[in-house]
Amino acid sequence: MSRPVRVPDLVEWKKRGERLTMLTAYDATMARLFDSAGVDLLLVGDSLGMVIMGESDTLGVTLDDMVRHTRAVRRGVERALVVADMPFLTYQVSTEEAVRNAGRLVQEGGAQAVKLEGGTPILAVVERLVAIGIPVMGHLGLTPQSVHRLGGYRQQARTEEEARSLVSQARALQEAGAFAIVLESVPAAVAREVTESLAIPTIGIGAGPHCDGQVLVSYDLLGLTAYAPSFARQYADLSAAISKAVQQYVSDVRAGRFPGVSS
Ligand code: KIV
Repeated sequence: MSRPVRVPDLVEWKKRGERLTMLTAYDATMARLFDSAGVDLLLVGDSLGMVIMGESDTLGVTLDDMVRHTRAVRRGVERALVVADMPFLTYQVSTEEAVRNAGRLVQEGGAQAVKLEGGTPILAVVERLVAIGIPVMGHLGLTPQSVHRLGGYRQQARTEEEARSLVSQARALQEAGAFAIVLESVPAAVAREVTESLAIPTIGIGAGPHCDGQVLVSYDLLGLTAYAPSFARQYADLSAAISKAVQQYVSDVRAGRFPGVSS
């Protein structure tokens, strides 16, 4: 195993033109598999609410949920950097609350960094977290915690003005101390402009090929979700494999083929 990934590595990788890989993980078993397959960063995303809890958005995810799942993921990892999403309302109310809540993700969950959605409204929080030693990943473009304001899960920064605003918010996040920024569902040309104007890496999801790294919701990649976004690539069909295995088990038990006499 190569040595564990550390936050300062990412800027070095960007300088060398090395692309970085991130996947979401929610439990120790998957985290172990993704880590040993060489994924650089594991994001305990608040997509947990949709993927694991079956909700229609991420807004119901609590800090306790995130602490529990982050701890599980961290137990499965030897090399990858573990980043935990700060859920809705855990960093927007005040800087003090944000510090306490991010602190729980680090102290109880074992997160090595936290991810926050948004730009201008959260700059003071980012600065404070970084100042006390908690690395922060930004998240711009389609920010799912604002789904109601945005009117759905649709591409952002489509106009010239919105694109300019996105670039300047990305620069402000870098200035505030963020070590990387997720760009979700923005035009490839906008992601390229942001990527080229920052020293810190961008990690794209539905943002084209010009980002410094890519992230996917792991259940989309594995074919475990009923509806994956059009930009996701499915690398396996685990839904079919699981159905087949479970049907075989049911049929073996019903037919008396399992357990066998010697099992
Ligand atoms: O929660 C999540 O899974 C995310 C990714 C989509 C980047 O934030």
